[in-house]
Amino acid sequence: MALEPTGYPDLDALLPRVERISALDAVQLEAEEIALLGRKSGAITGLLKRLPTLPLEQRKPFGAAVNRLKAEAEARIESRRTALEAERRSGGEAVDLTMPPRRRWAGADHPVTRVIDELLGIFRELGFTVAVGPEVETDWLNFGALNFPPDHPAMDLHDTIYVDAPPVAEAPHGGRLLLRTHTSPVQIRVMRASAPPIRVVMPGMVYRNDPFDPSHAPGFSQIEGLAVDEGISFVDLKATLAQFARRFFGPATRVRFRPSFFPFTEPSAEMDVECQLCHGSGCPACKGTGWMEILGSGMVHPNVLVNGGLDPERYTGFAWGMGPHRIALLRYGVPDIRLFYEGDMRFLEQFAPAGKGSA
Ligand code: DAH
Repeated sequence: MALEPTGYPDLDALLPRVERISALDAVQLEAEEIALLGRKSGAITGLLKRLPTLPLEQRKPFGAAVNRLKAEAEARIESRRTALEAERRSGGEAVDLTMPPRRRWAGADHPVTRVIDELLGIFRELGFTVAVGPEVETDWLNFGALNFPPDHPAMDLHDTIYVDAPPVAEAPHGGRLLLRTHTSPVQIRVMRASAPPIRVVMPGMVYRNDPFDPSHAPGFSQIEGLAVDEGISFVDLKATLAQFARRFFGPATRVRFRPSFFPFTEPSAEMDVECQLCHGSGCPACKGTGWMEILGSGMVHPNVLVNGGLDPERYTGFAWGMGPHRIALLRYGVPDIRLFYEGDMRFLEQFAPAGKGSA
């Protein structure tokens, strides 16, 4: 911006230099600041130093004009310095504006947790409440109360992880301590704690002496279900579990029940849903059968009702158990269960709902 001439030739001679300040580069600016305002030999400083030699009546107006020019020069140097600094930051070598920003992880539920929440939500709609039990159980609650005969192979060291601690003495829960191998012992705890009608789902981790391979893990999740009341029949079991499958897998999903055996149910059945990948035509995932096994179930064995403190002449019930880790594998077509345990963000991010996960 052009400056008004002052009428003092020495002063006006400096105006073009002050006007050029906004065009200087960083090195020139440093030099010009010293050349104009330096305390020893700055040109403007020199004009001020001349003041005492002037006749009194000239000092005031000349002094004021020099000071105005000095303030103008200082302001322009300062704003040029700020501009150069901003240029250096934005366009300079130090910052690469094309580099993508570091992504922020906003956090999201684990895919298995989401499956568990969804499953529990469906059973909540069907009138079930949620109960939980401890992961360290006695062998009586894990096996004996559930009608396992004393020499059942599941109780073997090869299958079950026992806790190195003294056995719990008091009846009826007493016995050797172990990591529960299924959530079924929670059935006994619920029956002992509440009177029918009972409708509960019982989620939690269970542990087995299993390898860690594509289809096994030594710790995995289960959801147990139990309904006990007067007059409950196999029809209630089938209707409840088929309804659940249609809510979870889609309204047209076909299910089938196959006879099976569990010590704690009689009769027992396994429920299959049509393969989620090939929809029944047969593929490697369902080993060509078109079906995928989803849960074990059955009518609660009278001995189990007795061990739960209930009268088997009056009450009947049905129960089931399913594995959310396995269901998550089927639903998402994940080839290796270990991916759910590794905490690798590249895997987990794919399941984050919109708006969650990395941003
Ligand atoms: N506890 C069984 C298991 O871990 C699953 C199971 C099957 C639970 C049938 C049940 C049932 O309640 O009725 O393999």
